Amino acid sequence: MERPIRILFVCLGNICRSPLAEGLFRHHVEKAGLGAHFVIDSAGTGAWHVGKPPDPRMVATALERGLDIRHQRARQLRLQDLHDHDLVFVMDRENLATVRAIAGEADASHVVLFRDFDPEPGSGEVPDPYYGGEEGFHEVYEIVDRTSRALLEHLRKEHDI
Ligand code: 4NP
Repeated sequence: MERPIRILFVCLGNICRSPLAEGLFRHHVEKAGLGAHFVIDSAGTGAWHVGKPPDPRMVATALERGLDIRHQRARQLRLQDLHDHDLVFVMDRENLATVRAIAGEADASHVVLFRDFDPEPGSGEVPDPYYGGEEGFHEVYEIVDRTSRALLEHLRKEHDI
């Protein structure tokens, strides 16, 4: 077998969108029996929530649908992460600009908008739910669920797995 594909999901706080993306993508990977083909992680560009579990509203939205992300802990993105991962999926354009700034002269061609893989038309961004109401968390769940499924299908074709 080829070496595993190393995937990193990135948002601002690493307590709402990217932990959900990590959890949902891993869920779909494992359901397909492909766990050995992937290494999956997430990080935030900001440091405010380092060491904390995901936001209780994101945890509740995920648990309602049977996905448990309570074990995850927030961490901040480092330059080394860009070397250590084959693909870095950012949740919005602000994340993209921040990650490119962190990359500096280093290659950032593997850093892309996660929602580029959304099969449904949209803004290209997963909206930040942090300062909004509960419905924002449900919307994020729907976007991240269908996009992570489509992303997995894309990677299966590309890597013939
Ligand atoms: P996330 O959401 O980037 O999806 O984890 C946020 C979490 C925290 C903050 C902003 C967005 N914050 O400003 O603390």
